[in-house]
Amino acid sequence: MLADLQTILHHEEAIQTRIAELAQQITRDYQGRELTAIALLNGSLLFAADLLRRIPLPLHIDALRVSSYHGDRSTGRVHFHHPLPPALAGRHLLLIDDILDTGTTLAAVRERLLQETTPASLRTCVLLRKNIHHPRYVEADYIGFDIPDAFVVGYGLDYHENYRNLPYIGVLTEEAIHRPM
Ligand code: IMP
Ligand code: MG
Repeated sequence: MLADLQTILHHEEAIQTRIAELAQQITRDYQGRELTAIALLNGSLLFAADLLRRIPLPLHIDALRVSSYHGDRSTGRVHFHHPLPPALAGRHLLLIDDILDTGTTLAAVRERLLQETTPASLRTCVLLRKNIHHPRYVEADYIGFDIPDAFVVGYGLDYHENYRNLPYIGVLTEEAIHRPM
């Protein structure tokens, strides 16, 4: 799988170090509040697991399965695979995703949460933010790393469901993107 990457952007150790910093910041910000983390699946599975175990606050963990990407392109539409988790009213919600690209996904989930529930607050946390050259639908409150505008995989991020289990994040080669499946 390593052969399919043209560069490694963030190694395992650097990812874990940055996640520990984010966890500290979130822990400080949410002292004394009722936090519910909502992980967007499947991409944020690894990130959420590593982040949340470093936040020593009483908190609830929930998840929401959504998709907007097909292969290496955003379709611009967000598909919710199931209804919103129950009992979000009055909670401080922290939405967790793997990567902020166009912002379509985070914006759609945010809208829907605010329309269908009455949370005490809603913030967003992403491991990666892509440096794109047009305006985004939404920004994130907590960001792990800013990365170049390339298609990346690993540490939860996939290409046709592959590479999610890599412990590091890298840029996929053109050859791997265009290889027949
Ligand atoms: P957005 O809706 O355009 O912000 O894209 C966010 C979603 O698209 C993420 O949750 C990812 O699942 C997926 N995505 C965006 N960029 C990449 C990438 O470079 N590699 C893998 N998945 C990506
Ligand atoms: Mg994906």
